Amino acid sequence: MTAGIDDIAIYIPRLYIDASDFAKARGLDPEKLQKGLGVAQMAIVDTNQDPACLAANACLKIMQKNKLSPESIGRLYVSTESSFDESKAMNSYVIGMLEQVYGQGAFEHCGGVETKFACVSGSYALYDNTNWIRAGEAEGKYALVVVSDIAKYDMGSSGEMTQGAGAVVMLLNDKPRLLAFDPKVTSTSIKDEYDFYRPFGKETPIVHGQYSNLLYMIQVRKALEAYKKKVISSQLIKLEPGETILDHIDFLNMHLPYSNMGKKALAYLVRHEWRQLPRWKKIIQSIGIEEPIPKDPRGTIESVLGDQEFMAKDHAFTKLFTKTSEFQEVYEAKLSSSLIASKMIGNLYTASLYLGFRSSLEFEFQKGIDLAGKRVGFGSYGSGSSAMVFSGVIQPEYKEIVKDMNLESEIGERRKLTLNEYEELHENKLGPEESMVHSKHEFVLVDVKTDAEFRGERRYVFNA
Ligand code: COA
Repeated sequence: MTAGIDDIAIYIPRLYIDASDFAKARGLDPEKLQKGLGVAQMAIVDTNQDPACLAANACLKIMQKNKLSPESIGRLYVSTESSFDESKAMNSYVIGMLEQVYGQGAFEHCGGVETKFACVSGSYALYDNTNWIRAGEAEGKYALVVVSDIAKYDMGSSGEMTQGAGAVVMLLNDKPRLLAFDPKVTSTSIKDEYDFYRPFGKETPIVHGQYSNLLYMIQVRKALEAYKKKVISSQLIKLEPGETILDHIDFLNMHLPYSNMGKKALAYLVRHEWRQLPRWKKIIQSIGIEEPIPKDPRGTIESVLGDQEFMAKDHAFTKLFTKTSEFQEVYEAKLSSSLIASKMIGNLYTASLYLGFRSSLEFEFQKGIDLAGKRVGFGSYGSGSSAMVFSGVIQPEYKEIVKDMNLESEIGERRKLTLNEYEELHENKLGPEESMVHSKHEFVLVDVKTDAEFRGERRYVFNA
């Protein structure tokens, strides 16, 4: 049975910090953020917003746009790594908010959980709900999968320049207008790792950034290997001699902790794929140096990162490789449009891959390309660590959805924060009643109880 994404909506907080202001305040070269990382603006949550209200606002948008009644929604999953409760699931908060609009008990039939696996959990939620539909359990109902996060790092840490916040919701059904997932090819890889984690009670993560970047690429490559085997054995894709699987994927969406990471990951995957093919000889000739090999090619990630001579040579080789016309062509055609939203908004953890997908649809469509029948590949990564690679095909009805996409108007009027305001927000110095933007037609947080018996209870209202 067909199953996939029928529609997609986003909710992005309207406060933001400008990358140049931030760089100046931290004594960094603004070019490092703008060019080195591909960060121009980072969305920051207001005092009266948490990941649950970002998620609820995205859900309300998609329901109102499609005139959906609560009865038509069979499942609502929330995937996040910004959870604020160890027991109560975030979908419960979201349903509580939606029932303020749709009436108490309107969603009582609607099953779901909160899922966690750093930035990859939304992909697992999407896969499980797609299979719920494929199995015929949905009985004509939709599933909503919301990915919602606040990417917040310690002040002064190297992660602070890769923050952001927002939610993306995907409406799934058996007659998707946007994207039908390819069946039986979704592939995963998993390994117990400590590249990025957030111990209980800590608001910000402990991050080993360079380690995490390398692990991300290694894990996605492993999942891609498994995906390749499945698509070839199921004959979903038939490879001719000299071809790679990537030649058959029209658009690629990668996990984006910052936009340039997408380009880095693409270069890594493409290098590994092309290395075995006749075209590599010409590329090596145009680069002018041989591809470097680590001292211990079978070593651990630590030994590779510790091999400074190799790392420097590999970095130089990658830079030259990404400048080749062959790579540039792949980058421009398959990936670049997916990075535009990330540059404007920043890291969204679970939601960053799907914001990239949303971005790629809008900006590829604007190029005048007919997207119907195009295959979209996804490289999802979550620290700790797991990767998932899967694909889908854009459906003939896609224009109904994509023609109205407009990132700027969907974000709404943004307000730039001063560094002082940003730091006050970052250090949680302001209460929900001291919000900086006046929100209309949105759910906001009004109170978190502190007395012993009800500690942690949250109250939200809908600002009509
Ligand atoms: N002008 C232009 N580019 C510059 C520059 C300058 N003045 N200074 C540095 N750069 C470039 C670097 O060359 C590098 O680009 P490259 O990777 O293409 O070579 C890029 O900017 C980043 O610089 P780098 O020195 O690697 O940054 P860093 O070590 O200070 O931190 C991260 C970068 C991403 C590791 C850090 O921000 C981080 O840990 N973020 C969190 C990431 C995360 O969440 N990971 C987990 C989920 S996957």
